[in-house]
Amino acid sequence: MVQCTMAIAMNVSVPSLCRCDSFDGADGEPGQGCERLSVDGEWVVIRPIRPADTAAHRAFLGRLTPEDLRFRFFSGVREVPEEQIVRFTSVDHESETALIAVSEASGETVGVARLALLPAHPEGEFAIVVQPGMKRKGLGTELMRRLVAWARAKGLGAMIGEVLADNAEMLRFVRHLGFQLRHEPEAPEVVQVRLPLAGPGARPVTGAFVCGRREGL
Ligand SMILES: CC(C)(COP(=O)(O)OP(=O)(O)OC[C@H]1O[C@@H](n2cnc3c(N)ncnc32)[C@H](O)[C@@H]1OP(=O)(O)O)[C@@H](O)C(=O)NCCC(=O)NCCS
Repeated sequence: MVQCTMAIAMNVSVPSLCRCDSFDGADGEPGQGCERLSVDGEWVVIRPIRPADTAAHRAFLGRLTPEDLRFRFFSGVREVPEEQIVRFTSVDHESETALIAVSEASGETVGVARLALLPAHPEGEFAIVVQPGMKRKGLGTELMRRLVAWARAKGLGAMIGEVLADNAEMLRFVRHLGFQLRHEPEAPEVVQVRLPLAGPGARPVTGAFVCGRREGL
């Protein structure tokens, strides 16, 4: 069991102690500890992914809709290859991090967000998926907030990503998080999104998610 401090201002009662079964992670580093929070009344633990999560991750991907899979993987995959799932859960948390949200009641993975350092350091590329049924409850924001904290701790200048142009949900989501959107005429099917973390355009990351309303992520 790992002790976790809850540092998020939410309008729910949150204990300062959480269970992160036998996880032995680097608690205390931004984005690398585990935290327990109530998402619309359901207790969820957010923590770094680990190899033991492979089966749960396979099941999580299996619960996504075909459209969510297309939005995440940019193709009409029906099933993610096993070696890719293994790679998704074997993360060094140095050059790449991936955080999962696990439902305390079911033990199921209900969301994941990852950020990989790019060779053109200091930028990192992110991806995120939240399970149907858990969307629009603030979980995606909480995952992103922790990725941003990790990216800042790594000294990254920006978080970047690519979003399919017909993914209106995601484009609205990132726009409200402060990402800049860029459409490139030569690739109209993809929108480049970028969150500056340093220099002009950078925004604070200390805000709180309160009742579905964000303040200065
Ligand atoms: C994009 C995605 C990650 C967002 O996750 P999420 O958990 O729904 O995100 P949040 O709940 O934090 O925020 C989503 C919206 O719900 C709103 N919301 C949050 N809590 C709410 C609540 N209690 N009541 C009503 N609305 C709420 C937020 O304000 C936000 O609104 P906005 O999009 O207009 O800014 C999710 O829709 C998803 O997994 N999409 C499919 C995969 C995908 O497209 N991934 C991108 C490829 S990298």
